Amino acid sequence: MSQNLSTDAAAGTVTLKPGDIVLGIESSCDETGAGLVRITDDGVELLGHHLASSQDEHARFGGVVPEIASRAHLEAMTPTVRSAFAAAGVEPRQVTAISVTSGPGLAGALLVGVAAAKAYAGAWDVPLFGVNHVVGHVAADTLEHGPIPADTLALLVSGGHTQLLRVTDIGGEVTEVGTTVDDAAGEAYDKVARLLGLGYPGGPIIDRLAAQGDPTAIKFPRGLTGSKDSAYDFSFSGLKTSVARWVEQAERDGRPIPVEDVCASFQEAVADVLTAKTVRAATDLGLGTVIIAGGVAANGRLRTLAEERCAAAGLTLRVPRIGLCTDNGAMIAALGAHVGRRGAVPSSPLLSGDPGMQVSTVLAS
Ligand code: KG4
Ligand code: ZN
Repeated sequence: MSQNLSTDAAAGTVTLKPGDIVLGIESSCDETGAGLVRITDDGVELLGHHLASSQDEHARFGGVVPEIASRAHLEAMTPTVRSAFAAAGVEPRQVTAISVTSGPGLAGALLVGVAAAKAYAGAWDVPLFGVNHVVGHVAADTLEHGPIPADTLALLVSGGHTQLLRVTDIGGEVTEVGTTVDDAAGEAYDKVARLLGLGYPGGPIIDRLAAQGDPTAIKFPRGLTGSKDSAYDFSFSGLKTSVARWVEQAERDGRPIPVEDVCASFQEAVADVLTAKTVRAATDLGLGTVIIAGGVAANGRLRTLAEERCAAAGLTLRVPRIGLCTDNGAMIAALGAHVGRRGAVPSSPLLSGDPGMQVSTVLAS
């Protein structure tokens, strides 16, 4: 264990210091991730990470099959952790603390990561932090763009979540400003890809096809944008249904489906609503920095439109590089580092997975 780490025996609080190294483990969905970060004087730096994906095994089902994901995590966990150490050029004895996704996610998948993390923490006698996956996505950005200012609004867009978050302190104070009332943005991408017969995961495929289509070809609905609708909440289920109806009608009429135009028009509707509501919330709440994180933050059109609209509104925009947007272990290590640097009571050795973990809980007890 590092000499840096300090433990307040009375309170049970552990405080990590510059130089301390955190191993992060991610297994909430279909990616097994392990990453190593070092705490610096003013933030965290990525030392190395590794990812194993079971996405190909789910593709023929058009979505993640939980049992397949759990088994794949079991097989991939130890090799992935070893590869992360090799990539980082670090030895296990240098690790000061372990961070693991405690939730939200698939119950069986989470358990594999939590069990592995508890075993490593016990064997190496280091503290364990069970952290929130959603907040981890936002923490990924600190590996690239440094500390998060206190006046930050994050748009978290993934396969399971679409949320606007006020990030007062990434290590412990995050509050929800808005959320989806039905499908997540990534879920809408995956479902539309499925109905177009494009494969899984749908986001990257639609992103690629949309680049060759006309975003104005079909006017798809923008959910929850009426004057009486909740300003900061999202809805994508109506959009998905509208795409399905449009495709069915074209098939009934015997017209060929202009797949690129459908993708581009669908994507425009998603990016339009996400960016409009984000800019509005940041402006209304007086928050000057916007971070976009999660798998859908890899989307080309979302990134471009967010740049345009944030610049026009005088907001500073931060988006992690594409490899750090989708699930990975580095983001979980980063969040554990922020939690530990702030000073926190480590999670119990009885830590379990929490599939429904709320974003207000950054660290599981
Ligand atoms: O954050 P993530 O890797 O996993 C979850 O926590 O859910 O997000 C996965 C989601 C999937 O729905 C996938 O289709 C979507 O992110 N995605 C994208 C792109 N890359 C991944 N959506 C739109 N455009 C992309 N380039
Ligand atoms: Zn995720």
